[in-house]
Amino acid sequence: MTAYEIIDHAFDVVVVGAGGAGLRATLGMAEQGLTTACVTKVFPTRSHTVAAQGGIAASLGNMGPDSWQWHMFDTIKGSDWLGDIDAQEYMVREAPAAVYELEHYGVPFSRTEEGKIYQRPFGGMMMNYGEGPPVQRTCAAADRTGHAILHTLYGQSLRHNAEFFIEYFALDLLLGEDGSVRGVIAWKLDDGTLHRFRAKMVVLATGGYGRAFFSATSAHTVTGDGNGMVARAGLPLQDMEFVQFHPTGIYGAGTLITEGARGEGGYLTNSEGERFMERYAPNAKDLASRDVVSRCMTIEIREGRGVGPKKDHIHLHLDHLDPKVLRERLPGITESAKIFAGVDLTREPIPVLPTVHYNMGGIPTNYHGEAIDPRRGGPDATVPGLMAVGEAGCASVHGANRLGSNSLIDLVVFGRAAALRAGRVLDRKAPVPAVNKASEEKTLSRFDRLRHADGASPTAEVRDRMQRIMQEDAAVFRTAESLQSGVRRMSELWGVLPDLKVTDRSMVWNSDLVETLELENLMANAIVTVVSAEARTESRGAHAREDYPDRDDANWRKHTLAYVDGAGKVTLDYRPVHTQPLSDEIDPKKIAPKARVY
Ligand code: FUM
Repeated sequence: MTAYEIIDHAFDVVVVGAGGAGLRATLGMAEQGLTTACVTKVFPTRSHTVAAQGGIAASLGNMGPDSWQWHMFDTIKGSDWLGDIDAQEYMVREAPAAVYELEHYGVPFSRTEEGKIYQRPFGGMMMNYGEGPPVQRTCAAADRTGHAILHTLYGQSLRHNAEFFIEYFALDLLLGEDGSVRGVIAWKLDDGTLHRFRAKMVVLATGGYGRAFFSATSAHTVTGDGNGMVARAGLPLQDMEFVQFHPTGIYGAGTLITEGARGEGGYLTNSEGERFMERYAPNAKDLASRDVVSRCMTIEIREGRGVGPKKDHIHLHLDHLDPKVLRERLPGITESAKIFAGVDLTREPIPVLPTVHYNMGGIPTNYHGEAIDPRRGGPDATVPGLMAVGEAGCASVHGANRLGSNSLIDLVVFGRAAALRAGRVLDRKAPVPAVNKASEEKTLSRFDRLRHADGASPTAEVRDRMQRIMQEDAAVFRTAESLQSGVRRMSELWGVLPDLKVTDRSMVWNSDLVETLELENLMANAIVTVVSAEARTESRGAHAREDYPDRDDANWRKHTLAYVDGAGKVTLDYRPVHTQPLSDEIDPKKIAPKARVY
C-alpha cells in the first residue's frame, strides 16, 4: 500500500456536511464556545438544501388559526404512526422560534400585506387535528426557501469562529479502542492531501441518498456518504425502507416542481382532464400527503389514464393562476418548467411524475441528535462521540412518510438541538482523544484499494445498474416478488464491487475516485433499503406493499435497524417506537393510531 502522509487536526467538534443541518449545527457549536470544524465535499452554498423550494413548516398562525398541537398531529399522521412522538413534539414546539431566529439571521421571507412572514398551504398540513381545511403553515421565500436559508446560515456561520474545510471528502469515521467515535479522515480534493480530524464529537450532516435511484430530485452529490461511513463502522441504519417519491418531478428530467405549486392552487389531471385527486382524497384533494398523491398518480397511469403519447405521466396545471402569483410566489419553477419541460406555465400544464425525493430513514438518533446503537446496551443506547442531523439522521420525526416543508424545519431544529446538547455534555478542557491506529489503517487501505482498482467494471456502469435496480424493484408500489428481485440483484451487484475499474490514479481532483467512493456509500444505502423493505410485510407511509395492503400496528409499529457487513450481508433488528409525548399539553387520545385518510 502507498504510504500516505496525514495532516492532523484536533477540534472539540467536527461537523461533516454544510447543508442546512450542518451549518445550523456548526454555527450552534461555535456559539457554545466549542472549537468547531465543518468539513464539506462541496462549497457550503452548493449543498443540496439550496434546492429546497416550497418552504419551512412552523405554526406561526400568520394567515389564520394554527397551533403546535395541530402541527404535531399532522406530523404524526403523516409519519403513519412510525415517528417517535417525543422527537415530533420537540420539533413542532421549537419550530416557530426556529423560524423567527432565521428571520433575525436575515432570511428574506416573502411577506403578507402587513409585513408578516408569508405562509402557504402544503400537503397534509390541516387545521383542527386533521379535520381541515388546509392550514397555511409553510413559511416561504418565494419558491427558493432553501436557497435563502442556506446562504443566510453560511453567512451567519462565518460570523463565528467555526473553521471551514471546503471540498474535503470525508472517507470514514475514526474510532477509539472502545468503538466510540473519535473523528474522521478526509481527502482534500484540490491538492490531494489527507487529513485526520480528531474530535470529541462528530456530527454527520451528509444528507440523503437519492442518487441510489435512477430518477431523483436530488443533486448528483446526494450519495448518502455519512450513512455509508456509519455502515462501515458496524453501526445501524434505521427505517431505510421508507423512501419518499415527490409527486411532481418534471417528466424525464426529474427536476423538482414544488408542492407549493399545489399550495398556490395548482392541480393534477389525467388523460380525461379529470382532477382525479378529488376521488381519492375528498378533503385534502391535491394537498393530500406525498405518499398518497404519488400512489394515486401511479394508479391513474397504470389504469391507462396517463397523459402523453405513452400515457406514462400526469399533468400539473398552473395555467389558471394569476400570472402575478407565478411571478411573485413561483418564479423558480416558472423558469424550471421552461428549461426542463419547454412549458410556458401561464398557458400549458407541466408533465410530471413521482420522483425519488427524500429518505425518511438514516442514522438512528434521539431528539438531541445523539446516534443510537442498541447493541451498545438497549434500544436507546447512544454511541459516544457521534451525532447525526438532517436527512442523514433519523430522529425519527418523519417516520414512514415526511410531510412537505417538515424537512427544512427538521434541519434547523435538530442542528440547533445537537449544538445545545454538545454544549452541555462536552468537556471543553479535556484533551481531544487519540484515534485507534487500526481504524485509521483500515480507512487508508480501502482508499488505496479503490484508488488502484483495476478490474473490468467501470464505476459509472455499476452505478447505472444499481440505480435501475432500485428504481424498478423499490418503487412506489412494492411486492414480495419485486423486493426479492431487488435483494437478489443488489446482492449480485455487490459481488461486482471487487471488480471495479478506476482509471485515474492521481490524488488531485480525481473525480473518478470520488464517484467510486460515493458508489460504495450508495451501495450500502441501497442494499439496506431493499432488504429492510422485503422484510416489512405491511403497508405504512411510503412503503406500499400490494401483497400486504394494510398497516399492521400489532406487529410492525417498530423501527427497522439494519447492519451491513463488508460482504453486503444485511442483518436486521428492530427497536420500539417512542409513543409518549414530552409533555401533557397534547391530548393522548388525539394522537392515538387510527386509519389515515385525507
Ligand atoms: O415541494 C417542495 O417544495 C419540497 C419541499 C420539501 O421536500 O419539504
